Amino acid sequence: MYGGVVPELASREHERLLNTLIEESLQRAHVQLSDLDGIAVTRGPGLAGTLLTGICFAKGLAQGLGVSIIGVNHLEAHIFANFIAEPALEFPFVCLLVSGGHTQIWNIKGYEDYHLLGESRDDAAGEAFDKGARILGLGYPGGPLIEKLAVNGDKQRVEFPRSFMKKDNFEFSFSGLKTSLLYFHEQNQGRDNHKVSIEDVAASYQEAILDVLVYKTGQALERTGSGTAVIAGGVAANKRLREKMSQECPAKSRIIFPGLEYCTDNAAMVAYLGELKLKNQQTSPLDFSVEPNLSLKVYSR
Ligand code: KG4
Ligand code: ZN
Repeated sequence: MYGGVVPELASREHERLLNTLIEESLQRAHVQLSDLDGIAVTRGPGLAGTLLTGICFAKGLAQGLGVSIIGVNHLEAHIFANFIAEPALEFPFVCLLVSGGHTQIWNIKGYEDYHLLGESRDDAAGEAFDKGARILGLGYPGGPLIEKLAVNGDKQRVEFPRSFMKKDNFEFSFSGLKTSLLYFHEQNQGRDNHKVSIEDVAASYQEAILDVLVYKTGQALERTGSGTAVIAGGVAANKRLREKMSQECPAKSRIIFPGLEYCTDNAAMVAYLGELKLKNQQTSPLDFSVEPNLSLKVYSR
């Protein structure tokens, strides 16, 4: 067991599975390769090796079929996954982007008009779930494992810290929380009396992460005057987050989540955004390259 994604293995797996994946997708969608108008592919951010595998494959396919290629920003695709759930979604809106690599809060004023309100200074929220699960010896990815245990736990049993819970502060920090879990777990493990159950620890830890996400989203709704917040990225799959957002965000605000299958990384969100860009004639030159550190700030005006 590796407790995370091993870049080299991930690239090889991508290469091994791509052909089968394309064949199966076409079959399930009842579509032929010759029906395609363009090929959308993630150009960044992400692991260089896996991005490169995808881009090389997509370029070959596009060239062979004589269709356009569209290099898509992974973060932008996560945001646009919300249009799959809610086709009538209209700008402007607030977006909480919470994945394994990013925790950011955006004021999305329009298409390619994205303004960063704040982001994490250290670990991302998904990373806090993954590292927490590793400390507790649960496996990877940590989010779903912690969520499952937390269902049967007492979320008030352990008092974990919440960072930057101040009005109009849109920064996040999760590394202190992770360290306090580590200390707590080490001490808790050895005790005979008063031993706190793993379910209670998971529920308390999850609640500490989610409290911050919900509070900051509420703050962003107030600061921007926007009536809608969309939640994007793998952590959006968390059911307790969904419940808390609807209970604790300002009254009358609308909170939108993608369908569960469109929260964690998926090709549908990349294709959705790719189609939009194709319609806008925003195709990529055939020699575009991977951008492992690509940010969404490139669009901010
Ligand atoms: O967006 P994503 O699939 O990949 C990145 O772009 O990073 O997000 C993956 C992250 C992982 O850290 C994973 O633990 C977290 O999303 N995640 C969850 C849940 N499902 C996935 N976190 C909390 N609750 C979940 N149900
Ligand atoms: Zn992602």
